[in-house]
Amino acid sequence: MKADLIIDASTIVCCTDGEGAGIIENGYVAVKDGRIIALGEENAPLDMRDRDTRIINAAGKTVTPGLIDAHTHLVHGGSREKELPLKLKGVPYLEILKMGGGILSTVRNTRSATKEELKAKARKSLDQMLLHGTTTVEAKSGYGLDFDTEIKCLEAANELKNSHPIDIVTTYMGAHAVPEEFKGNTQGYISFMVEKVMPYVRKNNLAEFIDVFCEEGVFSPEESRIIMQKGKEQGFKLKIHADEIVPLQGAELAGELGAVSAEHLLAASDAGIDSMAKGGVTAVLLPGTSFYLMLGKYARAQEMMDRGVRVALATDYNPGTCPTENLQSIMTFACFGMKMTPEEIIKGMTLNAAHAVDRAEEIGSLEVGKKADIVIFDAPNIEYIVYHFGINHVDTVIKGGKTVVENGRIL
Ligand code: NIG
Ligand code: FE
Repeated sequence: MKADLIIDASTIVCCTDGEGAGIIENGYVAVKDGRIIALGEENAPLDMRDRDTRIINAAGKTVTPGLIDAHTHLVHGGSREKELPLKLKGVPYLEILKMGGGILSTVRNTRSATKEELKAKARKSLDQMLLHGTTTVEAKSGYGLDFDTEIKCLEAANELKNSHPIDIVTTYMGAHAVPEEFKGNTQGYISFMVEKVMPYVRKNNLAEFIDVFCEEGVFSPEESRIIMQKGKEQGFKLKIHADEIVPLQGAELAGELGAVSAEHLLAASDAGIDSMAKGGVTAVLLPGTSFYLMLGKYARAQEMMDRGVRVALATDYNPGTCPTENLQSIMTFACFGMKMTPEEIIKGMTLNAAHAVDRAEEIGSLEVGKKADIVIFDAPNIEYIVYHFGINHVDTVIKGGKTVVENGRIL
């Protein structure tokens, strides 16, 4: 493969482990055979500028690792803009769900869609993500709930992984809601997931993680514990939607069971935060969802960081509580909603997000030997990207050493 040499970048944000975000001013990044082979300040060594090297001039621009969206509900049918009047009237999210709307309305639309229709819709979203700088996404099922539709959605995600530049990490989230056919029989639904769906998903390698919506009126902490334990026994890694609206000690559970990540966490207690720190659980915070649910409240990012929890950020892209593919918008919500600094934010979407999907060995930072997933923003520094909000700053996206977006367009 030809080498690429990014030169004269105003800012390079390496996102390496440790304090700060590892910023290099006026530097270069060299890429060969899909990997980062060198980077540093000032000029690249002259022997790198041979005839076979493509030079990318990044003067006035900012270079970061490819963004990682560690929490999305990528594959689903339909949309929910018709719920806007209810939301504006102040009907709470969990109330809409109880009325058979919310997640359950998306379940109906997902069940009635074909796999090809779901893929076409998800592919459009992946294109948007790529254009906005995302190179890896986590994708959860959970809008099928029955066997056929959950498998259809996971197969769709896996097929897209092989046909789109974005890397996809898949999660089985049958425990997203209790489907109407199991209403009043949560135990029966749990047995069905554990005995019927999980073994099939595992055997066919359709998902690496499982996830549970531990929430009042959805899955209780006791039920969540059983689902997670059974999943772990079958070889799945664990995620949990924890303490989003009602504090149910989901964060404590995540720490105790050794989950890779716990998500949302708006209502997480001090003990929950300590349990996550102790268990090495990455917090995936979703400030776009706080904004969109009009909760008037955000997760306590600062306390989490102070108490030693690694904080990642994601979109939560889904049709109900955060319909956006754009991680740059999430940067703004993280800054203004949770007072995170631009350096904390960019790390939350790169290295820390890589930890949340258990890929930190491969991606998430600009370091020699890591995969060449790189974004070049048409902005002089990361502060500028967070500050100038609501537009797309991405100029170039390199995925595994291959340029896939140039001048803001997919190639
Ligand atoms: O992460 N909280 C649960 N699940 C999604 C929302 C799903 C929906 O409303 O469709 C979330 O916010
Ligand atoms: Fe979610």
